[in-house]
Amino acid sequence: MNASSAVPSAVIILAAGAGTRMKSELPKVMHAIGGRSMLEHAIAAGRELNPERMAVVVRHQRDKVAEHIAAFDPQAVIVDQDEIPGTGRAVEVGLQGLDASGEVTGTVVVTYGDVPLLQAQTLRELIAFHEEDSNAVTVLTTHIDNPGSYGRIVRNQAGEVVAIVEAKDATEEQLAITEINSGIYAFDARVLREALLEVTTDNAQGEKYITDVLAIARSKGYRTSALAIEDRWEVEGANDRVQLAQLGRKLNDRIVEAHMRNGATIIDPATTWIDVTVEISNDVTILPGVQLHGTTRIETGATIGPDTTLTDTEVHAGATVTRAHSLGAIIGEDATVGPFAYLRPGTVLGTKAKLGTFCEAKNSQLGEGAKVPHLSYVGDATIGEGSNIGAGSIFANYNGVEKSRTVIGKHTRMGSGGIFVAPVTVGDGVYSGAGALIRKDVPSGALAFSETSQRNIDGWVQKNRAGTEPAQAAAAAEETQPGQPE
Ligand code: UD1
Ligand code: CA
Repeated sequence: MNASSAVPSAVIILAAGAGTRMKSELPKVMHAIGGRSMLEHAIAAGRELNPERMAVVVRHQRDKVAEHIAAFDPQAVIVDQDEIPGTGRAVEVGLQGLDASGEVTGTVVVTYGDVPLLQAQTLRELIAFHEEDSNAVTVLTTHIDNPGSYGRIVRNQAGEVVAIVEAKDATEEQLAITEINSGIYAFDARVLREALLEVTTDNAQGEKYITDVLAIARSKGYRTSALAIEDRWEVEGANDRVQLAQLGRKLNDRIVEAHMRNGATIIDPATTWIDVTVEISNDVTILPGVQLHGTTRIETGATIGPDTTLTDTEVHAGATVTRAHSLGAIIGEDATVGPFAYLRPGTVLGTKAKLGTFCEAKNSQLGEGAKVPHLSYVGDATIGEGSNIGAGSIFANYNGVEKSRTVIGKHTRMGSGGIFVAPVTVGDGVYSGAGALIRKDVPSGALAFSETSQRNIDGWVQKNRAGTEPAQAAAAAEETQPGQPE
């Protein structure tokens, strides 16, 4: 089967339903798994087929859904379903919407906006099967032990598909059928248009059923068939949040497995969550408890985790990111991050740079080999190559009104507990003393320190805190080390 050449004329995605069981203000099809809404997954799968035209049928929370579609796929034609209910009506208005820019001919694929695991490859196989068999209607099916409310696939003695019967309209005998209608179809456009004219609302739900098109087409002498698939998860929809989580887990399993087959080591697939949009090179190691989101990209040899969340973050080759949380950062080649680091948008770590334990950085660049190893806040700073920022340093970037930058030169040695009051510039090769409060620019090669002289007042504790534990300890020290401290 040459599935790769299967390009449909049109894809129609149904997304007009209410989805009340989500119990959500958010339209059902906008609930997300794997970094995309269910509708975005459906649109992406349809788009992968390179159809000439694509329509999404909307009605419930129409404006929100339409805006969501336009943001993801501006080429998709948004079609409003009217007050006539049912999947048949939805397809009918979808087709009419596309016909408005020239009558559709050839193969039309119908999918649902709430079936997020359906893959383009499966649709290609459906189209190829449909076209090679010269069918007018081909329905994608699967077998389910307890088919519940699914439509049943009715076959004749010869095994040919003759009808799809909704559970609510089915006989006892038909209810026992375990082959179910996924709701995904390939149609010949002309036959679909013609058969839809004959679909009525004369059924248990008073809806126009798309499922009726199959029997109508057959009664007109057209070929109808079914393609059964093994993996029922591909055609499973989410009606509530329990099913959404199940589908999210299945999708994640698929994504994680694909990355492992691509050469990434993933120690614990069960606690590793990766969006469909994430890119991972081979020989990346992912430790347990990692979430990778959005446009995150990880290059070869990098190690991520444990317990790390990266969103829209680039990690270059050989970098190590341990127990970190990052949004919109770039982590350079062989750089190290964490344990326990927070990288915010605009953070760029150069090659072999380090943002260490309990450090936060925002809109800051660390040059090659620059290090902020411990307990620091780096906001709106540029730190030159080879510089070292002592433990507990703060880049005070905010005066309560506006934010300013601090620029630190190359190969500096900034002492512990430094406070850099922006805007301020420190030259190359500068040293600073511990606790320096840097308010004024420091020229290259200088030592900067703040005069903060220390005074000791002898006997103060026993005089002012008599009877307390500190006072007792001081008295004991006086006895064993008389004369100390002086
Ligand atoms: C439908 C099929 C059933 C199949 C099942 C698979 C019909 C009559 N029945 O069942 O055979 O086993 O899907 O899940 O087609 N929608 C609209 N407009 C409408 C009604 C629905 O756009 O007026 C959309 C929904 O948003 C949803 C999809 O169509 O994405 C299916 O609707 P749903 O009500 O879940 O399907 P059923 O009628 O239960
Ligand atoms: Ca229904």
